[in-house]
Amino acid sequence: MNRFFLRSRFQTFILLTPVLAAATSFAEQPSLMPWPSQIDIKSGTMSLAHPLRVEISGCDARLVHAVDRFRAQLSLQTGDHYRHQDPEANENAVLTIHCSSQGLPVQSVSEDESYALEVDAGGAKLDAPTPLGAMHGLQTLLQLAEWGPGGWDIPAVRVQDTPRFAWRGLMIDVSRHFMPLDQLEREIDGMAAVKLNVLHVHLSDDQGFRVESKKAPKLQLLASEGMFYTQDQIRELVAFARERGVRIIPEFDVPGHSTCWTVAYPELASDTPSPRLVRNQTDQQLPPLDPTNEKVYKLLDDVFGEMARLFPDAYFHIGGDEVDPKYWNKSEHIQAFMKTHDLKDADALQAMFNKRLLAIVTKHGKRMIGWDEILVPELPKESMIQSWRGPKALAVAAKQGFSTILSAGYYIDLMYPASYHYLVDPLAGDAANLTPEEQKRILGGEAAEWAEYITPENADNRIWPRTAAVAERYWSPASVRDVDSMYARLDRVSTELEFFGLTHRSSQERMLARLAGSAPKDVVMVLAETLEPVKEYERGETHEFDADMPLNQFIDALSPESEASRRFNRLVDRALSNPQDLVARRDVRRILERWRENDALLQPYVSASWPLQSIVVFSTPVSQLGSVGLEALDAMEDNVVVTAGEHAAHLDVLKTAEAHHSMLQIAVTPGVRKLVEAEKLTR
Ligand code: ACM
Repeated sequence: MNRFFLRSRFQTFILLTPVLAAATSFAEQPSLMPWPSQIDIKSGTMSLAHPLRVEISGCDARLVHAVDRFRAQLSLQTGDHYRHQDPEANENAVLTIHCSSQGLPVQSVSEDESYALEVDAGGAKLDAPTPLGAMHGLQTLLQLAEWGPGGWDIPAVRVQDTPRFAWRGLMIDVSRHFMPLDQLEREIDGMAAVKLNVLHVHLSDDQGFRVESKKAPKLQLLASEGMFYTQDQIRELVAFARERGVRIIPEFDVPGHSTCWTVAYPELASDTPSPRLVRNQTDQQLPPLDPTNEKVYKLLDDVFGEMARLFPDAYFHIGGDEVDPKYWNKSEHIQAFMKTHDLKDADALQAMFNKRLLAIVTKHGKRMIGWDEILVPELPKESMIQSWRGPKALAVAAKQGFSTILSAGYYIDLMYPASYHYLVDPLAGDAANLTPEEQKRILGGEAAEWAEYITPENADNRIWPRTAAVAERYWSPASVRDVDSMYARLDRVSTELEFFGLTHRSSQERMLARLAGSAPKDVVMVLAETLEPVKEYERGETHEFDADMPLNQFIDALSPESEASRRFNRLVDRALSNPQDLVARRDVRRILERWRENDALLQPYVSASWPLQSIVVFSTPVSQLGSVGLEALDAMEDNVVVTAGEHAAHLDVLKTAEAHHSMLQIAVTPGVRKLVEAEKLTR
């Protein structure tokens, strides 16, 4: 059993399991995310009064820069100043950092990332085998900083921390919508804050090729609409990431999802390719590369060789997903080739293609990664599999001897709440039945943000703060899975992430202000906060994808998970589970009253506003939810019964409120439903 230790400042008690943590006030927990593998919170604090003198020994230059960033970040988070120390001053160090070794020239998946941190009233001591561990320890210190009665403090703690998985990633698609360099850099800052260590950049797809090739410049000239990273920018990105303990994995998706290649080189397509970039199709599959054409391998050898030199990481992702066999099956020359080479079907043809690719990738000194479609028995074992279609593929791959990572369950573009992704575990399901040796091949996972519906304006809001919860799954012991504790900490980590320059909260506010226009913002907000984007692939199924469509609607502005709605639903749980909790009941009542009144306040502005017209369909149902919830609450408080007719009418309101419109859904219905279900009926 995994144990972690938590002691409040005022009492000493040890929590044996996270279940017990639910019984404590979460306000007493430090807002650490990911939760460390071992933490002992002692009494006392270290004051963050200045100056903050730091001594570093044994580490490489990255730690000097990391401490500079630590000072800057602490200054932002506290609003205080933690400037460079005066070299002449003779104070004792309050923070000493020691690394037992310097890091590898290219960060490796096997590098030790553990650290030990000891804080008491006299100062903080951080020890790590490598600079990576020391940088993680600095992030822990930042998250520990909190207000005390006399100013900013760090609680006295002893932390021994090591990640559960070595591969803790975030994949960002920059093809469907391009993300500028500074945005990727701020995502890396956010990743480092929560101890993620791999940024996988999906650099090519049907909608664009996003990196400069000097070997094949037609790729960016004809297939990027001018939106691509120069090679200098990539070098800057790689260096920026290295400074923060993050590896960059490039992905060039072939032979499917490859219209950008065939726009530049039409002769390499398996069928007549699109004469231009495809901006409005995703589900309709486009012609893949022609695996029978030797020129394909020559181009891939040239470009992959160039990219292998540009991206220093040991791993190189070739995609390999979702190849529609129809183009290969209907092509006469491809069918003839398959016959000659004894390839029985499209899978066998792709396996042959992947073997050729593996030779190219290996020749350029890299290990090949592909999505789980590349997994066939003949695939050489040095390839790595990224599972997106389900955890079963992960277990199968590990059993067969492949290194693997899990992305199924971590598709954050599907708009599920943090709690959903948080509880997906790479070692659960079929993987739980693997031998320890096989389980070791499961290196971790990656959250995946596909970019059909994100732009630089709302990307942070799509990625954060939910990815911090995923980061905890990859780092912390498997037993750390208390959802209430996670949300309590996530709320504060979300604030911290904004101080890192991420805009997940501020962009939503800005976009909602734009949508409100001249209508009163607070009235629009009352309604908007009850709404969430539809989940899974519903948007794409009901509205045709077009990458050039403006993403400026309520669905684009609103967080995948409404914090206000989640709080309301949770408040109802509290009010119902404990009739003595009068504060919870009072707060539920206030919220319901606000909803009940809001429709009348909003209606006068609707006729003149296109965006308000898109959500007014929810306005009456939300007001009705307010009324129904209040009636249920009144009945509960007065201990009266409702008639069967009244109860049925309440259920009808709930049913109406569950309908989806404008790619949105009401997120507070579950809480109101619980109030209605608690109604006592006449017999
Ligand atoms: C994928 O989602 N097609 C990897």
